[in-house]
Order: sequence, then structure tokens, then C-alpha cells
Amino acid sequence: MRIGVVGGGYWGSKHVRVLSSLAAVTQVVLVEPRADRRESLTALNPRLLAFGDLTSAMPHVDALVIATPPSTHGDLAQRALEAGKHVLVEKPLTTDVNQARRIVEQAHRSDLVLMAGHTFEYNAAVWRLRDTIRDGDLGDVYFVDTARLNLGLYQPDVNVVWDLAPHDISIINHILGARPDVVQAWGNSHAHAYLEDVAHLRLEYKAIEVAAEVRVSWLDPRKVRRVTVVGSRKMAVYNDLAEDERIRIYDKAVHTSGPPPNGHGTGSGNGISYHYGGVTSPSFPFEEPLLVEDRHFVGCIQAGATPATDGWNGLAVVEVLVAAETSLRERCPVHLERDALPPIGQGRSGPVPSADSQVVA
Ligand SMILES: NC(=O)c1ccc[n+]([C@@H]2O[C@H](COP(=O)([O-])OP(=O)(O)OC[C@H]3O[C@@H](n4cnc5c(N)ncnc54)[C@H](O)[C@@H]3O)[C@@H](O)[C@H]2O)c1
Repeated sequence: MRIGVVGGGYWGSKHVRVLSSLAAVTQVVLVEPRADRRESLTALNPRLLAFGDLTSAMPHVDALVIATPPSTHGDLAQRALEAGKHVLVEKPLTTDVNQARRIVEQAHRSDLVLMAGHTFEYNAAVWRLRDTIRDGDLGDVYFVDTARLNLGLYQPDVNVVWDLAPHDISIINHILGARPDVVQAWGNSHAHAYLEDVAHLRLEYKAIEVAAEVRVSWLDPRKVRRVTVVGSRKMAVYNDLAEDERIRIYDKAVHTSGPPPNGHGTGSGNGISYHYGGVTSPSFPFEEPLLVEDRHFVGCIQAGATPATDGWNGLAVVEVLVAAETSLRERCPVHLERDALPPIGQGRSGPVPSADSQVVA
């Protein structure tokens, strides 16, 4: 199989490395307009075939990975599908809901694989967190809180919500097995003239009565990549930067024995008790998520299977991002329509991998 990587920047170069390591991939092809980037990547990978534009590369590929700036994803994916190529599109799938729908439907009509590059859904730590919730270890989930903060890298075409929040939205949808009904967002442009560099999203999953708070920032002195899930029995923290113990389960909880007799009151005198237990950290096999993701893409093409993060999964994240953008501009909550999208993990989505059995190769 010959796979082209469109965009040889920070992330595209990682796809080039990973795809070059897969036995099923006979040729990796780079599409990158910048000559310096083509030269440095071909110096590292002498077998790499490099082109400056997609039209010239098209006859040499069976499938494409699109790793260009987000605003270009939709048009490039559409061109790839029209040319009969399978496509993996980096997050976010597109920056427009209607265009996302068009490419999802086009891939379906043409019987081509369309996959969203939601890398964290190929991450064994995220699968372990999902399984911990699903098995009821945390009790009833009260809320999810995420933080994805760092200094930079500012993107030229999208704000911090479009750059960083796709990861958190895809993780939260995946671990809860649901999609939000209401989205509200707040943000500010501090160092940038007009793109928000700090933002905060609130996602309401009404059917399961869970709310999620998402904080994203390009303007923070410390790098933070954290997902906290608070349940009625226990609490879990996924720290993606931890060397080991990426998932820690805290046997801590707050119990109440019901409302105080006079309808209000404070503290433990009003039937609130605290449970303080130990901390455990489950172990699980871990492989580089991008390798798992790219291998899954190749496996789906070979088997004619639907990817775990198919186009509908990508569209579900784009819907939330567009709603967040609307909420930022109009300063109000945005209610999402629940029409044609299948529930997460069902219908048109593929099999959901588990932490112990790796995703299909
Ligand atoms: N899944 C993940 O964890 C993850 C991580 C980082 C970035 N990304 C995504 O990867 C994509 C690329 O991000 P990046 O950080 O590598 O950006 P980057 O700016 O480092 O690289 C983008 C490259 O695309 C090239 N390019 C632009 N327009 C092109 C076109 N029409 N055809 C071919 N090449 C073109 C640019 O010259 C540049 O080299 C973004 O969509 C980003 O959201 C995903």
C-alpha cells in the first residue's frame, strides 16, 4: 500500500516516521510545498518520495493522511475522496459542519475509509480510564474536568479551542460513551491580536447527567495534560505527562445523608462525611498511540472495515467546536441538534478497543 502524508510539519513528520515502520506500507509519499521541509524529511528517510503539490502526488498513492493546518482539511479531504483515495484526516476533521457532513457522506457513497485522527482514542491510558468508568469503579460519574495548557504553539489559522479542545472533546465523548447536548464557551485573546489564546468550555451530557469542564490555553507557564473524573465512590486522574502511573485512582469520596432538616446549612454537621482511602495505579500495556492509529487505518483499508474514529466520530467533535465558536461570539449556551448522528460507539462507528486487547491491526 502506498500512503501519502500531506503536510510535512511537526505532526506530519511523525506520521512519515510511523508509516515508514509498517510492513504493509510499501511506499510513503510526502506532499509538502516547503522545499526545506521536503529536503530535511527525505534526508532522514531516503526511501521517501516527495512532491510539492497534491496533484503531482495523486497517481503515486492509494491513501492519504492529511496533516496540514485545520482550515485546509475539508478541501484536501474532499479532493482525496473524489480521486478515490482512502483518507485519515488529522483533528479537527474540518472547520465547518456542512463540509464535514459532505465528506462523511462522500466516503460512504464511494466505499472509502474516512478516519479522524483522534489520537487519544488510540491511547491505552484513555481506554483504561473508559473501562474504569464503564465497570462502575468510580460509582456514578458526577463530572469531568480537563486541562490542556502550555506556552504556545500559536496556530496561524485557528484559535486555541480549535487547536487543543478536539483532544479533550474526543476523550470525554469516548470515556463517557456519549455526545454533549449543550456547549458553552468563554475565551480571551491576550497575546494574540484576535485569536483566543485562553478558553474554557462547559459541555452538558444531559442523558447521563454529567457535565464536563475543559480548559485550554496557549498562555500558561507550565505544560499540563490532565483529565479528572469525579465519581460518587472514587475519583480518577489521567496525567498524560506522567512517566509512569498515568492513571491514578483515588479512593476518596464525599457522602451526604440527604438535605438538612431546615433546607440549608453547612459542613459535616449537616450529614456530609468524607471518605479517605488509598491511591492505586492500574498497569496496562502501552504502545505509541500514533502507531496504533496509523496501523488501524491501514488495517481498516485492508479489511474494508470502519475505523473506531470514523467520519461520524470526527463530525461529532466538529459539531461541538462550531457550537463553542458560536457560544464565544454570542455569549450564550448553544444546544446541539440530535439528528442524523449515531450514538458514540454504536451504529456507524467501528469496534471499541479495550485497554488489554490492542486495537485491530
Ligand atoms: N493528533 C495529534 O495529537 C496532533 C498533534 C499535533 C498536530 N495535529 C494536527 O496536525 C495538523 C498539522 O499540525 P502541525 O503542528 O504539524 O502544523 P505545522 O504548521 O507544523 O505543519 C503543517 C504543514 O502543512 C504544510 N501545508 C500547508 N498547506 C498545505 C497544502 N495545501 N498541501 C500540503 N502541505 C501543506 C505546511 O507547509 C506545513 O509544513 C493540524 O491539523 C493539527 O491539528 C494533531
